[in-house]
Amino acid sequence: MREIEQKIHPNLPPTTVWGYDGQYPGPTIEAQQGEPVYVRWMNKLPNEHLLPVDETIHSSKIPYDSTGVRVVTHLHGGNVEHTSDGKPTAWFTRDFEQTGPKFKKKDYYYVNDQPPATLWYHDHSLGITRLNVYAGLAGLYLLRNDREESLGLPSGEYEIPLVLQDRSFNDDGSLFYPTARSGTDSDSPNPNPSIVSQFFGDTSVVNGKAWPRLSVDPRKYRFRILNGSNCRFYNLKLFEYNESDGTTGAGGPPFTLVGNDGGLLASPVTIEDRLEIGTGKRADVVVDFSDYAGQTLLVHNDAAAPYRGPDINTGEQQPLPDVMLVDVAADDVDDPSQVPSTLAEVPEIPVDSVDEERYLPMTMSSDEYGRPLHLLGSEAESSPHKLYDPVTEEPTLNDTEIWSFANLTGMSHPMHMHLVHFQVLGRQPYSEYDPEAETIDIESLEPPAPEEMGWNDVVTANPGEVTHVIVHFGGFEGLFNDQTGWYMWHCHMLEHEDHDMMRPFRVLPYSGGDNDDGS
Ligand code: C2O
Ligand code: CU
Repeated sequence: MREIEQKIHPNLPPTTVWGYDGQYPGPTIEAQQGEPVYVRWMNKLPNEHLLPVDETIHSSKIPYDSTGVRVVTHLHGGNVEHTSDGKPTAWFTRDFEQTGPKFKKKDYYYVNDQPPATLWYHDHSLGITRLNVYAGLAGLYLLRNDREESLGLPSGEYEIPLVLQDRSFNDDGSLFYPTARSGTDSDSPNPNPSIVSQFFGDTSVVNGKAWPRLSVDPRKYRFRILNGSNCRFYNLKLFEYNESDGTTGAGGPPFTLVGNDGGLLASPVTIEDRLEIGTGKRADVVVDFSDYAGQTLLVHNDAAAPYRGPDINTGEQQPLPDVMLVDVAADDVDDPSQVPSTLAEVPEIPVDSVDEERYLPMTMSSDEYGRPLHLLGSEAESSPHKLYDPVTEEPTLNDTEIWSFANLTGMSHPMHMHLVHFQVLGRQPYSEYDPEAETIDIESLEPPAPEEMGWNDVVTANPGEVTHVIVHFGGFEGLFNDQTGWYMWHCHMLEHEDHDMMRPFRVLPYSGGDNDDGS
């Protein structure tokens, strides 16, 4: 991780960013299932942070007055040992001069014993994740295998990663990140700088370029789309675009979803309208441009920010409609690629095997400065928990559980679990949910959206609803692998995650007893 200057847009002076291996976003790591990878993530960043650091966040746990920037890299979606998971307290400063309490090793071990998938890596340092990721510390990690290769999906130059982020810039090209909450003034009791409730940038950045355009041939492409924004959701659709007057015309080619967070779907799903990609999520899609030779298309986003619910009317609404342009070449080309009707085995986790159902309320509170705080709880009556409260979610290896996220706040939150991939069972209004009931009537739930098929590690929990996911801890039907120890679950809006909307969970070994799980 180094500080570098990068040209984000031709009309903007170079921007100072932080990159892995000197680039933002970081290099795409390509790994093969069954071939483990070791990575030594090395911190070569300057002593001072690039962005305003609010030292009131987890102030009793973070040595803010000591030198150096704390980083730690998490492999998001990685079914990995806990000592290589990159948990927030496993941070380290430049050249490992200082390390956090849960730092265990320099060389992270990724066993790659899970289905091929679009994973990503990003910083996860305690209390400053939002700033480290915003500065540029994120990249893709594509896990492949021969079976997937043999499907004949578009590959090579026709397989393109798209890292979607929103950023704001100052006139001199530097990254803009707010130092204070909007609507507060200098005589408010807020710390300065202060964490903001949410961050939404005014500029679409794709693969480190502002409002880019992509040239394609009139044929099929596979796009590995990552929503790597701090807080923003995307709801994407392609439109024909008239550049002379900047207007959109008819809808363009649909997205054909072939995979999401945790790997390929059982069969492809054509997204008829908008493709929702929550913060932190991935969409593995094929788009066929063959009917659009010679045209320009716009990748359009209509997701509100914040996303859904009463809070979208609070005045901080920051839509970002234009994501990028796609220029389709005029000349026909051969296209030997295909999208087979069967992609992978995705066995359903059986609901009748559930060992535990967890009612997980998400509520609003405020911190000691009166700033809004989104918190996670484990029971209706008890007060919600902060990050450092004792662990309340302790599944045993090989257990199957339903996690029911009950969103009692005013906006949608993208809920993420480390280590595992879950299946979305469905949603119901909060008023119809009875946490005391013995079983959940799956039939009565609003079924998952088409883009929520298969294996997910982030799910959109909408306000006023309970979102149920089913998860198995450990290997399942030959997929994934057994891991025990401490991991995190949290909202993937990074300002929320940094501000206590994050909790540990701990996978216990079958027999209780001792294991080195870093507790
Ligand atoms: Cu991508 Cu704990 O996060
Ligand atoms: Cu949140």
